[in-house]
Amino acid sequence: MEKLIVEGGHLLKGCVNISGSKNASLPILAASLLTDKPVCIYRVPDVTDTNYMIQILSQLGASVERASGTVRISSSDGIGVSASYEQVRKMRASICLLGPLMARMRRCTLPLPGGCVIGDRPVDLHVRALQALGARVRMKDGNLVMDAPNGLVGTTVDMRGENGPTVLGTDNLMMAAVLARGTTVIESAAREPEVVDLANFLNKMGAKIEGAGSRTITIHGVGHDELRGCEHTVIPDRIETGTFMVAGAMISEGITINRVCREHVQAVADMLTDCGHTVRFAPGGDSVFVARGKAPRGGVITTSPYPGFPTDMQAQMTALFSLTPGISAVKDDIFPQRFMHCSELKRMGANIKVDNGSALINGVESLSGAPVMASDLRASAALVLAALAAEGTTEIHRLYHIDRGYELLDDKLLGLGAHVRRVQDTSSRGGEVL
Ligand code: EPU
Repeated sequence: MEKLIVEGGHLLKGCVNISGSKNASLPILAASLLTDKPVCIYRVPDVTDTNYMIQILSQLGASVERASGTVRISSSDGIGVSASYEQVRKMRASICLLGPLMARMRRCTLPLPGGCVIGDRPVDLHVRALQALGARVRMKDGNLVMDAPNGLVGTTVDMRGENGPTVLGTDNLMMAAVLARGTTVIESAAREPEVVDLANFLNKMGAKIEGAGSRTITIHGVGHDELRGCEHTVIPDRIETGTFMVAGAMISEGITINRVCREHVQAVADMLTDCGHTVRFAPGGDSVFVARGKAPRGGVITTSPYPGFPTDMQAQMTALFSLTPGISAVKDDIFPQRFMHCSELKRMGANIKVDNGSALINGVESLSGAPVMASDLRASAALVLAALAAEGTTEIHRLYHIDRGYELLDDKLLGLGAHVRRVQDTSSRGGEVL
């Protein structure tokens, strides 16, 4: 296990390049199984989650080659229908294999991914969607066992759940419907840019999908032999972009973040601007300059589905608000339990009260370095941001959480002038509380 040692208080400056999106790459990698023709995907970030997905694809029988962000996949020799619990339990997003396996193989056995620290993470909407297309579903030995011996049949499915639309659920239904007979209409579809990127990839492959990015997506089913190989470049990671934008607002007189998509980070940009920070996009919207404002003020955030404020950015904003004068409030309506970072931020001197899916933050003048523990991907990002701005040295344990989704984070921070180093964590179980 490794830990990150951060010497805080060094102003960031210079530029950083954003990687391809992790959350777009995962379903796109899974979708490559729909065709037996070769596909080539560019700008897949080299992070643990994409590595897990590539391992699962290989175990299913696909031939996968990866070199500097380019992943070539071919499953011309056929694919298996079951993934091992050992692989699936490492990454909840492996649920997005359901759609492609049911579409191409008409059956699959997938271990049910468990909950995780950010919440219960049910998959009822995924299951309901596949059932609507005609799949039979049962649970056996902790596995979701599905089949549709006569193939899937298109219909209208409403994907809205109690906490809004589901991103990977929409992806699964869209992928399953590509090879279903007839037309599938997804109502209350997730509108996230990652869903649009997947639809664009599928259309390049020969699928017939309209309306991705809106509330209603229509998929006209095609035959397996109508699908072809294709090439696709993954969109920039909007959460990595947002994380560096917050870094710029917390601890810099200005950093430039390149390879971004303005439209995808507008909610974060608006919030930082409202809080008094400088946010200036280049005319094409593919680069943004962010600097800490002279008189920063707090804000009120309620997470909501795209184009609202993303749940994946609330922890980082909580770190920023910890060092912003006045009272701020963060409410997460998508994952109301996602506040594990707050107890660690408090150990660094933050004044935060967490209650019932909300955090009330009373900004303090300074944070102080401390040993802290990462609990999930975005919570770790919040701790890194707090550590960069804190006085003294912070040790962030359980670094594997951050490696799931931030490509070359240490190198990027070093490039911006941060003082960080990664070392082996020899403390008992990486600082894990038993
Ligand atoms: N939900 C259900 N039933 C379901 C599925 C979801 O009730 O069958 C609920 C969830 O519990 C949650 C809400 O619906 O309250 C939305 O969850 P969603 O299904 O959209 O989450 P996801 O698709 O599993 C993706 C991202 C997450 C991100 C969420 C929300 C990937 C691989 N993961 O998860 O990203 O937080 O959408 O935007 O795309 C991260 O990158 O750190 C991360 C957790």
